[in-house]
Amino acid sequence: MEFDLLNLLMKRRSIRVFKDEKVEKELIQTIIKSGLLAPSSKNKKPVEFIIVEDKDTLLKLKDCKAKGNIGLKTAPCAIVVIGDSEKSDVWIEDASIAATYIQLEAENLGLGTVWIQMRKRFSEEGNSEDEVKKLLNIPENYGVLCIIAVGYGNEIKSTYTEGDIDFSKVKYEGFES
Ligand SMILES: Cc1cc2nc3c(=O)[nH]c(=O)nc-3n(C[C@H](O)[C@H](O)[C@H](O)COP(=O)(O)O)c2cc1C
Repeated sequence: MEFDLLNLLMKRRSIRVFKDEKVEKELIQTIIKSGLLAPSSKNKKPVEFIIVEDKDTLLKLKDCKAKGNIGLKTAPCAIVVIGDSEKSDVWIEDASIAATYIQLEAENLGLGTVWIQMRKRFSEEGNSEDEVKKLLNIPENYGVLCIIAVGYGNEIKSTYTEGDIDFSKVKYEGFES
């Protein structure tokens, strides 16, 4: 049977509560492979990933953000998506595509994910991006876009239906149509 991408896109929802179950190494490897296959501007490949499974570090990553951090409370794995701003002036776009590939591959493998934004976000102490960089020893020239929390979901989310697709966002031949 042909692979049904639209069906996968309808199924994917943000999962913020995870089972206390490790994600198999082979699955993480497949997810990372997909992220590394993402296209990048001028093929400069500025995007890198840091995989975190240590519980203590996961909770410290959670504290790098004051709000919208709940996905890191129970996640057994986090993929920190970073980009080398010296390699590319559009590392944010490249990193966004890679993060999306990661989310879709994880969904395809039966795992749940949530994108936890770090760039332009804050903790109780200060800037989330700087705190993540300090915690994980990330060099100055890298930016931290987001953290993708990954694991086996422990919450039920409804899949999207045709009715959720807002075609009013689409114009033809110009904005006014
Ligand atoms: C750029 C971006 C930033 C996001 N930041 C967060 C975040 O910091 N914390 C969080 O829990 N979810 C975050 N999300 C997930 C969105 O809240 C979620 O995708 C949206 O509400 C739609 O729900 P769905 O993913 O279930 O379709 C983010 C998503 C995107 C694309």
